[in-house]
Amino acid sequence: MKIAIINGPNLNLLGKRETDIYGNESFEIYIESLKKMFPDISFTYFQSNVEGELVNELQRVGYDVDGIVINPAAYTHTSVAIGDAIAAIKAPVVEVHISNVHAREDFRKLSHVSGKCVGSIFGLGLKGYELAVRWLAGS
Ligand code: DQA
Repeated sequence: MKIAIINGPNLNLLGKRETDIYGNESFEIYIESLKKMFPDISFTYFQSNVEGELVNELQRVGYDVDGIVINPAAYTHTSVAIGDAIAAIKAPVVEVHISNVHAREDFRKLSHVSGKCVGSIFGLGLKGYELAVRWLAGS
């Protein structure tokens, strides 16, 4: 089984960025533990701070992998293009947010992505990625 993980802007700074909200662990370290948890799954990981690159990656993997876990970060709240790309592709997509976006500023309550995804996970920290993978893997 193939699963793609896609992270949006500023998530390359996890572990250094607003650690009270996003925690102390970098995604590069976290993904290694994820790979160990799911040894039978083949993962790809892509992070970009550029909206169009996230659209390109969705299109690139979206007809090939069995599932996608995406955290579009701030683009969640602004990007019609990422929402359209998710709607266009074949692979089921689960949206993950590390923080509970509904308990924060009002602008974070709007998502152009949630309605195009099979489901969304908010506020469970990095564990949300594991839960999304578990769901996509059917376990
Ligand atoms: C985030 C929430 C977004 O509102 C924010 O812009 C992020 C991270 C999260 O994972 O909690 O960059 O997607």
